[in-house]
Amino acid sequence: MKKLLLINGPNLNMLGTREPEIYGLTTLPEIVKMVRARAEQMGLAVEPFQSNHEGGLIDFIQAEYQKANGIIINPGALTHYGYSLRDCLAGTGLPVVEVHLSNIQKREEWRKISVLTDICIGLISGMGVEGYLMALEHFKDE
Ligand code: DQA
Repeated sequence: MKKLLLINGPNLNMLGTREPEIYGLTTLPEIVKMVRARAEQMGLAVEPFQSNHEGGLIDFIQAEYQKANGIIINPGALTHYGYSLRDCLAGTGLPVVEVHLSNIQKREEWRKISVLTDICIGLISGMGVEGYLMALEHFKDE
């Protein structure tokens, strides 16, 4: 069975209460549950992880990537400056899909830059929670 790492970065543990007008009311445990349920229907296994620390994310990816077939990641604000995370993801050689709940192109200037997108196979931004499920679709037939 194909296995995907479902990674969420800083502050995404606060979903549900954090700026709900931007990020919605769904909590991270609810997102993980939804993604897992859909993944199971597709015959995919999902290994979720969240950290508020760039090093924590890197430690997890280094420990798990050899057992995985792909990565779905919402890097939080590390999107915009996380060069260590970028190098780590690139080093895995795995297909990576970058997901953002909000449309980062419609927000502040500094959010429009992602230091990760060019090492990802694709980017889903602005589709809310649905974005995580859309990312799963990519891995279904790969
Ligand atoms: C985010 C967008 C980032 O700019 C922000 O720092 C986040 C969440 C999103 O899902 O829209 O933490 O990645």
